[in-house]
Amino acid sequence: MKTSQAEGMKRGEFLRSLGLSTSTLMAFYCLGTTMTSCGSKEDDPGAGAGAGTGISGTTTGNSVNFTIDLTNSSYSKFKTAGSSEIIGDVLVAFTTSNGYVALSKRCTHEGSQVQYRTQQNDIFCISHSSEFSLTGAVEQGPAATALKVYKTSLSADGNTLTVTA
Ligand code: FES
Repeated sequence: MKTSQAEGMKRGEFLRSLGLSTSTLMAFYCLGTTMTSCGSKEDDPGAGAGAGTGISGTTTGNSVNFTIDLTNSSYSKFKTAGSSEIIGDVLVAFTTSNGYVALSKRCTHEGSQVQYRTQQNDIFCISHSSEFSLTGAVEQGPAATALKVYKTSLSADGNTLTVTA
């Protein structure tokens, strides 16, 4: 016990001898880990699968509010009906019948990721085959609770799509 305390002291003294401040040491720590270790995931506009350049705003958590640049090559597909993508916590789809929809990507049964099915024009969970309408309502269980639905708003020029909680 005395030996490890002594070693701990020696390490601490060594770090101090380098003249590194606590904030500098934390910066090194953060560079060696993922951004989620040091910052708020909700503040990262690129957080979540499918997000990247062309997205601005918050794509995860309870404060979802982001804008998709449809002129960006990554998202220009959203100008074609039948396209979809997971952006952060949200499944965004340009449906074949109902325009744009945005719903929680997490199935209300056991949390698997749902997907938009072009042929059926619905939302499907591959894990246990739950089906949801484009308004989030359960059409087939085992899921018993509707998916959360987000608001979508297309800009007048058709170049940006905004998704809000
Ligand atoms: S997790 Fe989606 S149906 Fe079970």
